[in-house]
Parts: sequence; C-alpha cells; structure tokens
Amino acid sequence: MRVLDPWARNPACWEKISIIARVAQGSFRRRWICPRGARPRIAKRRLAHFWTKCIHLGQGGAPGCGVGLRRRPPRGGRHVMTVEDRLARWRRRYPRVADLAPRARRRLPGFLHDFVVGGLGDDLALGGARAALDAVEIVPRYGVGAEGLDTGATLFGERFAAPLAIAPIGGDGSIWPGATRAFARAARAARLPYMAGTLASHPVEQVAGWLEQGRWFQLYTMPGDDHRVSLDLLARAAAAGVTAVAVTVDVPLPARRYRDMRNGLRMPMRPGPRHIAQAASRPAWLAALARHGVGQFANLAPYADAPDRGSIGGFVAREGPGAGAGWPVLARLRDAFPGAMLVKGLQHPADAANAVALGYDGVIVSNHGGRQFDAAPAPIDVLPAIRDAVGPAPTLLLDGGILSGLDILRAQVCGADGVLAGRAFMLGLAALGQDGPAHVAETLIDEYRIALGQSGALTGAGARGMTHRHPGRWPALAFGEEAP
Ligand SMILES: Cc1cc2nc3c(=O)[nH]c(=O)nc-3n(C[C@H](O)[C@H](O)[C@H](O)COP(=O)(O)O)c2cc1C
Repeated sequence: MRVLDPWARNPACWEKISIIARVAQGSFRRRWICPRGARPRIAKRRLAHFWTKCIHLGQGGAPGCGVGLRRRPPRGGRHVMTVEDRLARWRRRYPRVADLAPRARRRLPGFLHDFVVGGLGDDLALGGARAALDAVEIVPRYGVGAEGLDTGATLFGERFAAPLAIAPIGGDGSIWPGATRAFARAARAARLPYMAGTLASHPVEQVAGWLEQGRWFQLYTMPGDDHRVSLDLLARAAAAGVTAVAVTVDVPLPARRYRDMRNGLRMPMRPGPRHIAQAASRPAWLAALARHGVGQFANLAPYADAPDRGSIGGFVAREGPGAGAGWPVLARLRDAFPGAMLVKGLQHPADAANAVALGYDGVIVSNHGGRQFDAAPAPIDVLPAIRDAVGPAPTLLLDGGILSGLDILRAQVCGADGVLAGRAFMLGLAALGQDGPAHVAETLIDEYRIALGQSGALTGAGARGMTHRHPGRWPALAFGEEAP
C-alpha cells in the first residue's frame, strides 16, 4: 500500500480507476443477475461505494461529498488538487460552455434538469433566441493591433471584469443545493455582478455580504396587501448595500410549462416517489444536498405564516410573484429605492421608453429565457429598435441564450451595454459542482477577450461601431403605437 500511496494521490490515476470501476461495475451487474444469497448484495454495496468514491475523486470530488482531493491537507509536498488544477483540467475537457450540458444532464435529477433547460410551449422562444444570436455576423477590422484591448465594463458606477452578470434563477438552491452561494463566490472571484433573485435560496442581506461589488437584486412584485412585501424587499435591499435592482415584469401569470406539468412540479412542491427515485440516482446532487440542505425561498421567510418550506411555498403560491407589475406600481417602486433600477423582461421599444420616462436607469431586454411567452421575439432582434427608442444613455442589458464570449460581443454590437447569463452558470454548477460557475465565468470572459481582439473592436465602446449584419432585426417602424 505504501508503494501505491504516491501513485494513488495523483489525480490522473483516479480518472483511470474511475473508468476501470465503471467497467467493473458493468460486469458485476451482469453477474449479479443470478444472486447467491446475501453476499453479492453486500459486495455490490461495497463496489457501489468504491465506484462512487472513484468517480468523485476522478472528477476532483463533488464539493461536500467529503471525498474530494481538494479537502485533503497537503502532506509532504505530494500533489494536492487545488481549484486551479481543476480549472486547468476543465479548460481542456470543457472548452465551451455548451460542452457542460451532457454532464449536467447526467448529474441533475431528471425533473430538475427539465425545469432548468426547458422553455415553454414548443420551445420556440427558447430556440429562437439562440438562433438569432448565431445569425449575427460581425465584419472584423484588422491592422489595429491589440494595444488597448480591454474586456472591462463600467455598469452603475462600478468597474467589472466584463460586461457580464449572473442572472437570477428562481429556486436555484432547489435545483442545485448551495447554488446562491456558489454564484456569489464565482461572481466575486471573477469580478462580475451577481443579480440574486427574490426566489434565491439565501436572503439578500447574506448575498450582499458575500459580494464585494456588483450587488444586484431582482425583485418580483407581489400585489398582496398593496405591495407591502415588494416595498419591504426594496428597503431590505437598500439597507444591504444593493447597488442595482431589476423589477421583473414578464411574469404577469404563471406559465404553463408542459415538461414541468408532466413531471409533477408545482408550488408548493411535494416530492413524490418519482422525484425521490430520480434524486436517489444522482450521487453528486445528493452530496450537495447533504452539505447545503434543501433550498428554500429565504427572502420570503419573514412574510410567510412560518419560516418552514411548506409555509413559504404556500405564501409564494398565494402571492404569485411577478403579478401586478403595472406602470403605476413600477413608478412607486422606482421612488422607493435610492440606487439604480432596471425593468427586466421588456421587448417593446415603447415599453422601454416608458420605463426610462419613469426614472428607470435602464432595461433588461429579455424573454425570460423563453419560459413565459412562446411567440416572443428573440431579445437580440428587438434590441436595436429599443436602443433607437431610448437613446444612448440608458443602460441596456440583454439576456437569453448567452453561451459564449462572442455572444457578449454580438449583443454589444447590436446596442447592449452588457449581458446576463442564467442557464450557462446553472449548468456549470450542475456539471462541475461549486467551482463550476467560476469555470463558466473564466470561459466567457476569455472568449469575450478573444472576440474583442479578433474583431478589432478592442473594447465595449469599440463594439458599438462595428459593421455587422443582423438578419432578424426588427425595424423600428414594425412597432405599432398601441397603448400598453
Ligand atoms: C430555471 C430558471 C429560473 C428563473 N427564475 C427567474 C426568476 O426568479 N426571476 C427572473 O427575473 N428571471 C428568472 N429566470 C430568467 C433568467 O433570469 C434569465 O432571464 C434567463 O435565464 C436568461 O436566459 P439564459 O438562461 O438562456 O441565459 C429564470 C430562468 C431559469 C432558466
């Protein structure tokens, strides 16, 4: 064993063991078809344990599973896997964000995977957003060198590493336990803003404490008791040092998402045997659950009858987050917060102009990741008309389908000041565990740096003037003057 020890501490060997273990498990399964009393069962359990351990070690260990190499103290100069080692390996294995999707699928319980990756209806709005981004062509300019290449961006008075923010994902801590914290950690390390959601698994005060800058918050209106909860959430955000709040307006009603309906996902969530069986087959997810516990809508705990999951879920179902976000309410909310404010989920230039007229600092052009209205246009296609309508000063952010650094440049070329990405970070977390979002941030920023240099734009400001072709672009004249 002493001879094997240094070898066993080399992470590469664990990868090989994990492959051998998988093969062994397969052949064991075949033999197990004819059981001989209790012994094969015990042996199978041991092998399953060994296999799980090997797989985790081969992958650098799922955070919280207690077997990751990262958690071992260094001994006698032997190799200990660090976050940097992992990132280096992931750079080779998953050079694109899209490469993470199959692994995320294998590690997430099926009903949660469907919830994250799905849109609604026939997924037309979801697919359209991605296809529209792909269709934007940019003509590169050469001979400009690379001096002055700068991925940095200033948003609401703060300087970030790139014009990229982590988007709010409601129920993030139920999708992957510990998600809110992992996103905050990644944002802080990468110097990006993180827009924590009303439905995040940690309260806004705690998330703000984890971040050094880019403390952004997404607010859902809740019409009960004359918007008492929404106004209180705004006051709490201001007290916590949040610098920008986005009010989401594109959820006037809960969506009918067929996958979720088939999977029995509803509010409040009551896990049935099918959910439990799916979760039981995902050891990395279970390990995250064991470490972080079941996520709940922590921001809303003070307003529910009791701070337990069931009561908070009941409160959310009653209040219908997102309902009642009419213009008079938006005007009241604007007056109630001293920092920057955005309206999230607009697609019509007249709506964007309304928001700016009410004193909002900008708009997030978004179709909610294709999850609310299947006939909605791709956000990138309405962006130029919105920029024309509001002029150069208001901040326009775009989200929906952002999967690469080139997409960030595409959005800027079409008129955005920056973008948010939701699923990219969620899939990074599901695929790679707690450090996954850091890998996604690093990938997107590096791709953006190369896109800036390769196009000759060099900076976000330079991107605005790039010659480009945008076949899906809605002309300003296409928008009617109908009243909102
Ligand atoms: C699972 C899931 C939950 C979401 N929850 C919220 C939410 O609570 N509030 C909100 O404003 N947007 C929410 N969104 C929308 C995102 O903030 C963002 O607009 C969208 O995900 C961007 O598209 P992308 O995922 O392709 O990057 C959610 C999106 C997903 C995928």
